[in-house]
Amino acid sequence: MPARDLARWRARAEASLAQILPDPTASPRRLHAAMRHGVLNGGKRMRPLLVYAIGTTLGAREDSLDAAAAAVELVHCYSLVHDDLPAMDDDDLRRGQPTVHVAFDEATAILAGDALQTLAFETLATAPQPPVQRIAMLAELARASGVAGMCGGQALDIDATGASIALVELERLHALKTGALLRCAVRLGALAGNATPTQAAQLDQYADALGLAFQIRDDLLDIEGDAATLGKTAGKDIAQAKATFPSLLGVDASRARLQELLAVMRQSLDALEADTSALQALARQVVERSH
Ligand code: IPE
Ligand code: IPE
Ligand code: MG
Ligand code: MG
Ligand code: MG
Repeated sequence: MPARDLARWRARAEASLAQILPDPTASPRRLHAAMRHGVLNGGKRMRPLLVYAIGTTLGAREDSLDAAAAAVELVHCYSLVHDDLPAMDDDDLRRGQPTVHVAFDEATAILAGDALQTLAFETLATAPQPPVQRIAMLAELARASGVAGMCGGQALDIDATGASIALVELERLHALKTGALLRCAVRLGALAGNATPTQAAQLDQYADALGLAFQIRDDLLDIEGDAATLGKTAGKDIAQAKATFPSLLGVDASRARLQELLAVMRQSLDALEADTSALQALARQVVERSH
């Protein structure tokens, strides 16, 4: 029953994040509280869900996936804290609450993001996989977070703001800023589940389609959603002249592209020859989500 699995994995991720994050009553209290605010504020936990879904589909035990699931979510949360800063997207609402720099202050938000990132690697370093596998997982997360991944994508996003770029450039921007961490979640699950090279290639195809679909949906929701449902301010992309799928292709073509990507995800999963119902459910959620 995938829906029940997804709810259980989400709760599992919440519990492990709450336990890993520093004690808000210990010094430096403001930094600890800001880190907790940036993580324990109701995220969908899509990246941990992918780690659990891929890993268990390949036969890994749930408890062997906890460190990887938490680590990729910590990097994601750090990326959101910094993405919302005045120097970047300048957002004051995230997951229905004031952003970290609004609830605390800018210096604390910068430090909270930095400390969440290093906590991610510290957490992954304690994963129960044998050292060679654990090092491969650490390298995967490092690559996905850095210039060839999320940070590189954020830089391209800034460069493209107010500019007009070609579709292939926009796809690369999205693949890096959002796709890289989602692909990393899939790869961490695949590494923990000892995927064969064939399975790993099929899962990469699933991950690439899922990553692009995730950001296209995010771009559409910025136009079609409202702050109460999204938990973040709507309409910011047009106001800030961001390069997005709907701004380049229009809403209808963006929706059509989402359906094509869903078909690609389904095909890659069918090739896997395993019970992929949880992964199919996640693919649908990415395309249909309302926040
Ligand atoms: C938002 O990510 C930023 C993007 C990468 C598009 P999510 O939509 O996964 O945000 P949360 O974690 O559920 O808040
Ligand atoms: C954010 O993309 C991607 C990262 C944080 C790496 P967006 O700027 O579109 O995300 P939202 O819309 O603020 O969540
Ligand atoms: Mg942004
Ligand atoms: Mg943003
Ligand atoms: Mg967005």
